[in-house]
Amino acid sequence: MDARQTSPSVARNRDPILDVLRRVLAPRARVLEIASGTGEHAVYFAAAMPGLSWQPSDPDPAARASIAAWIDASGIANVSPPLAIDVSSEDWGAGRTFDAIVAINMIHISPWEATLGLTAGAGRLLSERGVLYTYGAYKRGGRHTAPSNESFDAWLKERDPRFGVRDIEDVEAAAKQHGLHLREAIEMPANNLSLVFRR
Ligand SMILES: C[S@@+](CC[C@H](N)C(=O)[O-])C[C@H]1O[C@@H](n2cnc3c(N)ncnc32)[C@H](O)[C@@H]1O
Repeated sequence: MDARQTSPSVARNRDPILDVLRRVLAPRARVLEIASGTGEHAVYFAAAMPGLSWQPSDPDPAARASIAAWIDASGIANVSPPLAIDVSSEDWGAGRTFDAIVAINMIHISPWEATLGLTAGAGRLLSERGVLYTYGAYKRGGRHTAPSNESFDAWLKERDPRFGVRDIEDVEAAAKQHGLHLREAIEMPANNLSLVFRR
């Protein structure tokens, strides 16, 4: 049985995200991807940037099976088998160091505690020149940046009232508590943003 899952949004966002990652990641960076989902991003980015070592992860066993299957099918060597990481858990990733942590489309599709856990873990795990990269929909100053994001927010909250499009300022404040500062907010297609945090 082929465990590979596909997400239609990955085909749309992977090239714009790749353009940003090529610029912000060091060529030989050790990257931890949080919430890898299907695993399509992991194999796409690792194949496009062969100097990187890419560590995917997801708390969901079906997602990890999909990630592993995409890795097998791709035959590329610079992606490791997926880890089971839930960023809401205490002390996740203990004892490891990475040059970058990448979280695509997780912050709004998880309880706020996940963002607090992501930023705390990034503060612990990232090397001195490390980068935290997040991608998704965000509000600015408490306001949606597009009507499509407003309806997306309502849809998310119907799925789970703890989910929702976050204020960029709240994410920035959470990261700052762990010594990470928002250096860039890059406009992406479909009213998404790339956020780049560094020490
Ligand atoms: C919408 S999917 C995005 C997957 C992938 N990054 C993408 O863009 O296609 C959200 C992912 O967040 C993961 N997730 C939810 N809560 C999480 C948590 N507390 N820690 C880590 N990952 C989490 C889910 O398992 C799911 O794979």
